[in-house]
Amino acid sequence: MVDTSNWFDVLSETRQRKLLASQRDGLWIKVQGQKLLNFASNDYLGLSTNSQVCAAAKAAIDTHGLGSGASRLVSGDDPLLHEFEREFAAWKGFEACLILGSGMLANMGLLQALADRHTHIFSDKLNHASLVDGARLSGAKVHRYAHLDLNILEAQLQKNIAAKRIIVSDGVFSMDGDAADVQALIDLAENYDTIVVIDDAHGTGTVGFDGKGLVGQAGLAGHARLLEVGTLGKALGSYGAYILGSTSMIEGLKQRMRTLIYSTALPVCVLAGAKEALNIIKQGDSIKKLHKNIEFFLENTQGLHLLPSQTAIHPILLGSDKQALDAAQNLREAGFFVPAIRPPTVPQGQSRLRITLSAAHHKQDIGGLIKALHAL
Ligand SMILES: Cc1ncc(COP(=O)(O)O)c(C=O)c1O
Repeated sequence: MVDTSNWFDVLSETRQRKLLASQRDGLWIKVQGQKLLNFASNDYLGLSTNSQVCAAAKAAIDTHGLGSGASRLVSGDDPLLHEFEREFAAWKGFEACLILGSGMLANMGLLQALADRHTHIFSDKLNHASLVDGARLSGAKVHRYAHLDLNILEAQLQKNIAAKRIIVSDGVFSMDGDAADVQALIDLAENYDTIVVIDDAHGTGTVGFDGKGLVGQAGLAGHARLLEVGTLGKALGSYGAYILGSTSMIEGLKQRMRTLIYSTALPVCVLAGAKEALNIIKQGDSIKKLHKNIEFFLENTQGLHLLPSQTAIHPILLGSDKQALDAAQNLREAGFFVPAIRPPTVPQGQSRLRITLSAAHHKQDIGGLIKALHAL
């Protein structure tokens, strides 16, 4: 008999991750029997439980069933995928769009398809794990630059010449809430003849008066050097991911992306929910509500040592793992679910609380959290 009990050597690790079976119910979340107000979701507009969104998904189950049954390249390529791709590309201002199973699949497949061992990838040090892994998987030479440091990036671009070079950055950074200067990255791309990949998973549906995200806000949608990636699993309240770019780029990706070709297509019911969520986002009220909530939170949290952020993500830097865990526990005792984020998700010594705001929060919910934060 093979003994696999120590395969992962988990007992020697300094910290263990725990999967807490937590049941969501609108704004609330039940964790280990305790009902808490949820400030830990990326459902920024509250659309995952919106009645119209859920009705659209249910109706699609009635007509299409649950799963899609095969990869898009076999028999899973429902016409709704194409309809959504056209609608989403038009809304975002790009020529073409490709829908994938998840953001993780999109980024891993995208960088693997775009790059090979002759390519150089220039990657912000705080980029999401999916971009880090995609770059690794591609076999490209990877240069990581200090977070948002365009001088270091430019020095790396000057030094490392190659026929194919890609600058890769999160748009809104998931654990910090700050944002890349997309215009500056495009300027560097023009000067040094590279392309740029922006992952605006956290900006789509939250940034800009229309929710079109950082790229839209910068007026760079459809730029020839730009590919935008993001997920449908955050502000769109659903699941899945998109890649936006020129028609030729998207067509090329369809031929080469292994995470498209060798993975089951996104279920139609999930997409139908996302389509309805997009309609609601286009109406604008949910984004206005989110922006009001962010404004209210910022006005009332001065002196709390929040990291600078104008987005829906508000980290409070605490330092050690213990400080972050204790603070999260105190908030739980006060009725709020705000997770402690620790290394390796964030750098050593930068453990933090990560608060995410939603349009679905009421003023009194946010007021209650602010009171508990001041009491910490
Ligand atoms: C910046 C960023 N990119 C990609 C992903 C992955 O997206 P998904 O959850 O759809 O796999 C996330 C999710 O946390 C993210 O924050």
